[in-house]
Amino acid sequence: MWLNEGAKFILTHSGDVNSELVIGDFFFMNSYSIIDCHFKITIGHRVQVGPHCYIADFDHDLKVDVNQAFHRMHKTYKAVVIKDNVWIGAGVTILKGVTIGQNSVIGAGSVVTTDIPDNVIAVGIPAKVVKVLEGNYGTYDK
Ligand SMILES: CC(C)(COP(=O)(O)OP(=O)(O)OC[C@H]1O[C@@H](n2cnc3c(N)ncnc32)[C@H](O)[C@@H]1OP(=O)(O)O)[C@@H](O)C(=O)NCCC(=O)NCCS
Repeated sequence: MWLNEGAKFILTHSGDVNSELVIGDFFFMNSYSIIDCHFKITIGHRVQVGPHCYIADFDHDLKVDVNQAFHRMHKTYKAVVIKDNVWIGAGVTILKGVTIGQNSVIGAGSVVTTDIPDNVIAVGIPAKVVKVLEGNYGTYDK
């Protein structure tokens, strides 16, 4: 695993929910990216995360309670899965419940709100597929 300056994992236990972060071999996360895990985030092998990305598996409750700060209120959780050989470009946000298929690429600055299939390039806000990657993209050099 390689982590550049300022890259960090946040693992938070929220009430009765345990957090579980699983990361495969040859993971690389560039500067100032954050994985904010309150529930379950699973990352495959040979995944690369660009700089200034944010990956989270929760949302704060949208019902305002005037007696509580947002971070102390109820949260909703959905697991995030990033499969093998995924490249996440710079400044990408990945929201709760998303699965990114193997060998896929997420373009810089994208916000991923729904599942992305295997072997594609997806870009934009919200991220949409713009290209299908043909051939064998599953054997990056170590
Ligand atoms: C996603 C990426 C790899 C695509 O590269 P590519 O295969 O050469 O794709 P293209 O440049 O042909 O782009 C295809 C289309 O998607 C658009 N597009 C590409 N990247 C985009 C992005 N990040 N956000 C929004 N749209 C994007 C292009 O404008 C083009 O649209 P068009 O068909 O309407 O002209 C590249 O654009 C990218 O974002 N790379 C990330 C770079 C990075 O973050 N580096 C940091 C190191 S980890």
